[in-house]
Amino acid sequence: MTLSINLSGSIFLSSLFFWLGRSLLFLLPAELSHDLGLKGLRLLHQFGLLGLLRSRVQALPLAVFGLQFTNPVGLAAGLDKNADYIDALGALGFGFIEVGTITPKPQPGNPQPRLFRLSKERAIINRMGFNNKGVDHLVEQLKSRRYQGVVGVNIGKNLSTAVENAAQDYLLCLQKVYPYADYVVVNLSSPNTPGLRSLQFGVQLEQLLATLKAEQKILADLHQRQVPLLLKIAPDLTSDEIISIAQSVRKYALDGVIATNTTLSRQGVEASAHAGEAGGLSGALLTEAATSVLIQLANALEGTMPIIGVGGIMQGDDAGAKLKAGATLVQLYSGFIFAGPPLIRDAVASCKQVQDANK
Ligand SMILES: Cc1cc2nc3c(=O)[nH]c(=O)nc-3n(C[C@H](O)[C@H](O)[C@H](O)COP(=O)(O)O)c2cc1C
Repeated sequence: MTLSINLSGSIFLSSLFFWLGRSLLFLLPAELSHDLGLKGLRLLHQFGLLGLLRSRVQALPLAVFGLQFTNPVGLAAGLDKNADYIDALGALGFGFIEVGTITPKPQPGNPQPRLFRLSKERAIINRMGFNNKGVDHLVEQLKSRRYQGVVGVNIGKNLSTAVENAAQDYLLCLQKVYPYADYVVVNLSSPNTPGLRSLQFGVQLEQLLATLKAEQKILADLHQRQVPLLLKIAPDLTSDEIISIAQSVRKYALDGVIATNTTLSRQGVEASAHAGEAGGLSGALLTEAATSVLIQLANALEGTMPIIGVGGIMQGDDAGAKLKAGATLVQLYSGFIFAGPPLIRDAVASCKQVQDANK
């Protein structure tokens, strides 16, 4: 009895604390509130006060890509681009954290404003443009992390590198992060780097995958460690394009695929003042499109490699739905911004229900 009162009391307090913080932060412009939110989290963690925000996440261990995950719910790329906040984010109960997108050289990204919160639609539009401190900074952060869970690194190309030379940037990032990453993601699906998405198709994709797989083998021998290589794809793909990508990743024996990144579609945001902003849309309006891509991809891959499902997980049940659609792991971004740490707990609970039903 005392335990359940204490438990529900602490759940109530952490939810209250989150809603208070979120309400204050949402009064500020989106990018400033993102930055302050992350810095606030880190401070709470440093002073041992993260318990004020954390929800009790149940353990749901699983092995994927030869890695041990404490639960299947991870943080998607883009929130902690430079790996500056791994320890604080990890302490919130995520089963894994993906940092990046990182590029070889630091770059400022697009001019501000470049991040727009569509609260009514529970969506975000961003055209950040891979703003980041460069791969060397990220490597230093990875070296000094305390978080013991799985950390993936999402890699990209600099804006100043021509699309034809993109392989050089991906190679350099892969080489530098390899000894310190648990998995590496080749991001070809950001809509905010001109020409990047064209690398998802045909010869360009196959050449890039061949180069990176060959390098993965060299690095595995050198470091005596197999680091899985994944591809992250867009939601704006035709059925034929999804099939063709699946064939290519199978041909080059990638270790997994992440579906999906943000969408260029503006369906459902017509009424928002921000509907006209350029960039990628994420959140509630992406759920259906991302899951549709996931289902088609899972069909085409025929269980040959695991898929991480991401896009529009806004409530716990959406995570279970991704598993049902063919994902083995899931990731949160926009849902986490709107619903906070309780979403991690609810998403893990929903995954557990699906796993139990499949037993
Ligand atoms: C502000 C913002 C920045 C993002 N930056 C990246 C990025 O650098 N690399 C990447 O692969 N995805 C990035 N994403 C995409 C997310 O990782 C995720 O794939 C997408 O938002 C869909 O998930 P969601 O609907 O849960 O947000 C970003 C998303 C947002 C909202």
